[in-house]
Amino acid sequence: MVTSRQFPSWSGVKPFLRFERPNLHRQQAALDKACTISDLRSIARTRAPRMVFDYVDGAAEQEIGIERARSTFREIEFQPGILRDVSTTSTSTTVGGHVSALPFGIAPTGFTRLMHAEGEIAGVRAAQEYGIPFALSTMGTEAIEDVAAAAPNADRWFQLYLWRERDKSMALVDRARRAGFGTLVVTVDTPVGGARLRDVRNGMTVPPTLGARTFADIVRHPRWWVGVLTTEPLSFASLDSYPGSVAQLIDEMFDPSLTFADLDWLRNEWNGRLVVKGVQTVADARKCVEHGADAIVLSNHGGRQLDRAPVPLRLLPEAKAALAGTSAEVYLDTGILTGGDIVAALALGADFAFVGRAYLYGLMAGGRRGVDRAIEILSAEIVRTMQLMGVRSIDELTPEHVRVPGAVNGQVQHR
Ligand SMILES: Cc1cc2nc3c(=O)[nH]c(=O)nc-3n(C[C@H](O)[C@H](O)[C@H](O)COP(=O)(O)O)c2cc1C
Repeated sequence: MVTSRQFPSWSGVKPFLRFERPNLHRQQAALDKACTISDLRSIARTRAPRMVFDYVDGAAEQEIGIERARSTFREIEFQPGILRDVSTTSTSTTVGGHVSALPFGIAPTGFTRLMHAEGEIAGVRAAQEYGIPFALSTMGTEAIEDVAAAAPNADRWFQLYLWRERDKSMALVDRARRAGFGTLVVTVDTPVGGARLRDVRNGMTVPPTLGARTFADIVRHPRWWVGVLTTEPLSFASLDSYPGSVAQLIDEMFDPSLTFADLDWLRNEWNGRLVVKGVQTVADARKCVEHGADAIVLSNHGGRQLDRAPVPLRLLPEAKAALAGTSAEVYLDTGILTGGDIVAALALGADFAFVGRAYLYGLMAGGRRGVDRAIEILSAEIVRTMQLMGVRSIDELTPEHVRVPGAVNGQVQHR
């Protein structure tokens, strides 16, 4: 039978036409179009100089640690419940006694104004707006006090590198305390710096040096350079009195002689909440809590320190079980690129998650607007994943909601 055809009429064509009002702000339009953190990463790649993008995107040695962390998340299979009423869902949870509107916070990152001139201020303001915690790094590029003033109502955490000169570390901690940072995060996976080979190959310097290669880069990334050259020079604003070079500072900051006795010392000095970040075995998780940690972060520093370090998600079930009789909370970072990753971590027992690069890709892609977009993407993915799994609230998530292909009883096996 031959299909009969007719000439298209206006009333027939009209329902197919959708003219969107043009978004005149090109950068905003690109951000709005980004559906995933990977999309933001692609925009970031065009916005920031190669050296800066690689500093964020790269990891240590062969970059096996970060690849494994991400692929472990990808292997997770959800076990949804059907026919549950998920017409309303709540993503809020408590972390360290504070309510967080979403089950993740912004991890501490150094040199942040290098990614975008708005740096930590963009991060902390976005955290305040969306009701999530923000962690400021010792190597942050905005003063502790300025970060506090920019977002007085944000749940602000301060990350400490316990460097050799203890009195200088403590002077920083005091400033953080006075500026209303209620939680201290001590990072312990940096006895020495990891080998970030992309940085070595790119000849990465902070601040970037202006040479012939740089000028070619200015032509390709004018907006980034205008941002850098028209704002305060890059420096470690937390450590403004430091007399040496950045390289000397990093060398001094990572103290290879640290032991659990130093953790005891810090526990004595700081009476607020103490979080130990960079825990990589179950035995050490236990030990940190015995030495006074209120919470631990299972993290391998985004694969930027020890390559082939344990995958935090694999450690999680056992670490959680080991701390079951204590009041210590267990957080997780490394490899999170989607809301589904966060849901998987929560289901396997994490009390909270942190994102490093997911936030920085947004920041590089569009400053504060890009950070907002990153949080919105993750938030929408969390809500959608929960609804499709038949889960209404974060505390309904259990290990029964995830299965790791190949694992015994569906649980992640950890040797
Ligand atoms: C560019 C960059 C800088 C970082 N700087 C710090 C830092 O100063 N202190 C710290 O404890 N962790 C630092 N981290 C590690 C993060 O806090 C976090 O552990 C890691 O990014 C999590 O992995 P993800 O990037 O896959 O989310 C940094 C990470 C990146 C990507």
